[in-house]
Amino acid sequence: MERLSSPHDMQQWANDQRRSGRTVAFVPTMGFFHPGHLQLMEYGRSRADRLVVSLFVNPLQFGPGEDFERYPRDEERDLALARGAGADVLFSPSPEDLYPVHFQTHVTVEKVSRGLCGASRPGHFRGVATVVLKLFHLVQPHWAIFGLKDYQQYVVIRRMVEDLNLDLEVVGRPTVREPDGLAMSSRNVYLSPEERRSALALSASLKAARERCRSGERRAAVLLEDVVRRISGEARARLDYARIVDPETLDDTDLIRDKAVLILAAWVGKTRLIDNGFLEGNPDCPA
Ligand code: PAJ
Repeated sequence: MERLSSPHDMQQWANDQRRSGRTVAFVPTMGFFHPGHLQLMEYGRSRADRLVVSLFVNPLQFGPGEDFERYPRDEERDLALARGAGADVLFSPSPEDLYPVHFQTHVTVEKVSRGLCGASRPGHFRGVATVVLKLFHLVQPHWAIFGLKDYQQYVVIRRMVEDLNLDLEVVGRPTVREPDGLAMSSRNVYLSPEERRSALALSASLKAARERCRSGERRAAVLLEDVVRRISGEARARLDYARIVDPETLDDTDLIRDKAVLILAAWVGKTRLIDNGFLEGNPDCPA
């Protein structure tokens, strides 16, 4: 596995692959790998001739007072894990490499960035879209693999790729969970044992809603009421939002018909966690 940090070297490498007719899969990450990340890498590995993984804690997508400074990092461990998952390149630029002093161009994906996490984290998806577009230009992948765990991010990136006619396919892969249901996240290390127990309310409420929906309850308001009750019932948890939305437009759904995803965010102690699950429709083909 090669390690590259200069954007220029990354782009040269990608140009060489394209010239030689090799296909490239790409997994963008902020590191501190867990099985959710590794699953994306394994999928990319199986899909293309070459696999690139980027590791960059992107300052542009963190708001003031968020956890940019203390975001968990362990580059040596990540290196070994990416190598084990079959990456050909680990690309880890510095903030100065990607945002030199005169940097001033940003990408805004308007409507789908606005609600949900976009409402609580202003500027977050602008930071995500900007860095991901830059990375796409450097890596020039045929496939870019994203986790459905960050569902709104996945929709924002798909929208950007379509709107800007990027020549690549965005692939979404299912959320990897702990055996008790908690969605894996680099931020789970922030949780105390008590908070870790409270955090289970997120996945448990999704599961309950899915079961209730399958047994015939189609009214979004009724399902959401139960989610709110379960999460508010946890002493250490505070719900940010819970919504049932159309998987492509992220518009609210009142009555669940063919496609719907329940998406939620909650604070557990000082840690903000997100989760989501399809109530109806095929998560492998949400659009
Ligand atoms: P990060 O949080 O490191 O996540 C990298 C990728 O791993 C994302 O596509 C995310 O959805 C996926 N992922 C995280 N946890 C997962 C889980 N439990 N199951 C499946 N996939 C999971 O998302 C980012 O980084 C950044 O915003 C980034 C896209 C790299 C832009 O900076």
